[in-house]
Order: sequence, then structure tokens, then C-alpha cells
Amino acid sequence: MIRTVPCSDFTCSVYDIGEGPVWLLVHGFPLDHSMWRFQLEDQTATRRTLAPDLRGFGSSGKGDAEPITMERLADDLALLLDQLEVPEPITICGLSMGGYVALAFWRRHRERLTRLVLCDTRAASDDETTRKVREVAARRVLKEGTESLVDAMIPKLFGSRSREESPELVRQVSDSIRRADPRATAAALRGMAMRRDMTSELAQIDLPVTVVVGAEDAITPPSEMEAMAAALPHAEFHCIEGAGHMTPLEAPEAFAQAVGW
Ligand code: MLT
Repeated sequence: MIRTVPCSDFTCSVYDIGEGPVWLLVHGFPLDHSMWRFQLEDQTATRRTLAPDLRGFGSSGKGDAEPITMERLADDLALLLDQLEVPEPITICGLSMGGYVALAFWRRHRERLTRLVLCDTRAASDDETTRKVREVAARRVLKEGTESLVDAMIPKLFGSRSREESPELVRQVSDSIRRADPRATAAALRGMAMRRDMTSELAQIDLPVTVVVGAEDAITPPSEMEAMAAALPHAEFHCIEGAGHMTPLEAPEAFAQAVGW
């Protein structure tokens, strides 16, 4: 069921299904909860899944954050858990930007977590070149809308098999990008550019972490994610064949096996 929850300066739309230990699924940029559609469809009676639309995305309101930092998004999620009176600790599972948010959540609210699942993401911050590219993209999105991101992002988001064999998934994600609010998209680009480098803090994450990456991920490549897993004290690493950057959407069965869904 979709719930609408007041959270500080915005209203958060969250898909809330099942009963049991909580999994909080955090979507990537500039998408919404529908990227977890196969996980939301594949429910057992043993887990409660919360899949929010982050502020400014999907059906959630934008609020007044500018830029939208990863810390702000993590604090939004902590408030969402309060508002829903969710029993803790929980598992947080984030993809790409959602992974940056999951790491920020660990830094600020670690007592609320029992486990992390980091998909197709990275611990490092942006280098100068990437920050500049993000600022150019932010200005373009504000001027021309999010359509300008579709052609740039789609070839990088999906592996070759998905692009050839799953046009409906490509269409779904393209439509999510088109629907994204340009102001929120630009604010999130600027927030990602400002994010903290978490590399040196990985060794302090004293929780089980599952690290999952698509073998064809062109944005956060397997070699980088494997190095991240090696820097974590309690990590399992899974590289999934036939998937690019959108592993839970491109290879839901292998993803389920890797994370114990
Ligand atoms: C995402 O999928 O969330 C983005 O590719 C993350 C990023 O641009 O760093």
C-alpha cells in the first residue's frame, strides 16, 4: 500500500508492504520506488518492505532543501521511520545514490541498523571533473528539463542484455527520469557532488554488509565495489552476470539470492 507521511518540510510517499523485520529500500538517481518493482512484487510473510520516494522524486514533495545532500536524505528516512513507528533495528538497502544515502544513514543513525545492502554504488566522493560535469548537467536540467538526462544515462544504467531483451525496463526507467522534477534533480546532482568521502570510514562499519554489483555496471564498476567490500570488516561481495547498474531490476532472481530476499 502507498502511504503519504508528513516529514518535516515535505510529504513522503512510501510503499509499505508485508510484516516482520524491516527492509528500507532506497532508490537511485533520479528515479523512484518503482525501480524496486520486482522486490515489491516478491513478498513473503516474513518481512516488511518500505520503499519511499526520496524528497523531490516520485510522488513525494520536494520541500525546501537546496542542494539535496545525502545527509538530508538520510535524516528524512530516519524521520520517516519515526513517523511510521517502525520497530528497529532495520536493514537499509540502497542503490547508487541510494547507497550514498545508506552510508550517510549509517554515519548519522547507525544504532537504527542491523545490516546494510549496498548495490551498484561507491564510497568515494566525486573528483573535480565529476563535480563540474554534475554542475553542467544541473544547469541543463533546470533549463531544458530532465529529458536531457535520458539519452546520457540510459546506456550507462543498463547492461547490454537488458538493453536488447528488456525494452520495457528501459522504457520504465526512461519514463521515471522524464517524470523527475527538474529542480529536485538539479538539487540532488549538487548534493551528490558535495557528498563526503566514506572510504576511510568503511573499516568502522561494524555490521554485516552485502555488496552487490552488476558485472556490466559502467557507473560503479565491479572492481571498485570489490575493493569497497574488501575494506569493510564484515562484507560479502556478489557480482551478478547479465546486469549493468540497475541490478535489482535487471536480474531480480540473482539479486534475491545474493541478498537473501
Ligand atoms: C545513480 O544511479 O543513483 C547515479 O548514477 C549515482 C551517481 O550519479 O553518482
